[in-house]
Amino acid sequence: MIRSFSFSDLDSILKIEGQSFPKSPYDWTTFLNLHSLYPDTFLVYVDINNGPKEEILGYIIFSREGHIISIAVHPRHRKKGIGTQLLQRAMKTPHLKKVWAEVRRSNRGAQAFYSKMGFQIAGVVPNYYGNEDALIIQWSPVVQETS
Ligand SMILES: CC(C)(COP(=O)(O)OP(=O)(O)OC[C@H]1O[C@@H](n2cnc3c(N)ncnc32)[C@H](O)[C@@H]1OP(=O)(O)O)[C@@H](O)C(=O)NCCC(=O)NCCS
Repeated sequence: MIRSFSFSDLDSILKIEGQSFPKSPYDWTTFLNLHSLYPDTFLVYVDINNGPKEEILGYIIFSREGHIISIAVHPRHRKKGIGTQLLQRAMKTPHLKKVWAEVRRSNRGAQAFYSKMGFQIAGVVPNYYGNEDALIIQWSPVVQETS
């Protein structure tokens, strides 16, 4: 199930974050700031089939303009389609012109993931991560022509 972030999710999100972005994890203040900036588009993927306690397996934060601020899935639950379901929420935002994200040049796994989802490399930002470039990857919805 995908639902909006709530404050009780923060501990689980911080654990996923630390394992997913060991070089530059967001801290709790960053997540709280992001929640106030993007209250409707900070989403969590929750496993509700494992007893009474929900387990947070992943999250995505994106802007209504289509900027993916962050996406991560718990390492134990990757390659099961959770990232796809989360990213599709952003890709289905009404009236989008494009969806884009910055990805570390060394992050081949994320690049393969975005490529599978139809994204293409649209540019490079040198040293975006201090000593590492960011690839800008981008996807645009097919606009149906009306006659
Ligand atoms: C990128 C990430 C969100 C993908 O989440 P996920 O739940 O594993 O993705 P999915 O299971 O939906 O993968 C869909 C497809 O993407 C491709 N893919 C995903 N991860 C991949 C990897 N590490 N290597 C190669 N291909 C990969 C595969 O083609 C996969 O389909 P398949 O399982 O049928 O082969 C997850 O690996 C992650 O949290 N990474 C660390 C954080 C990160 O790098 N975030 C992106 C920063 S911009």
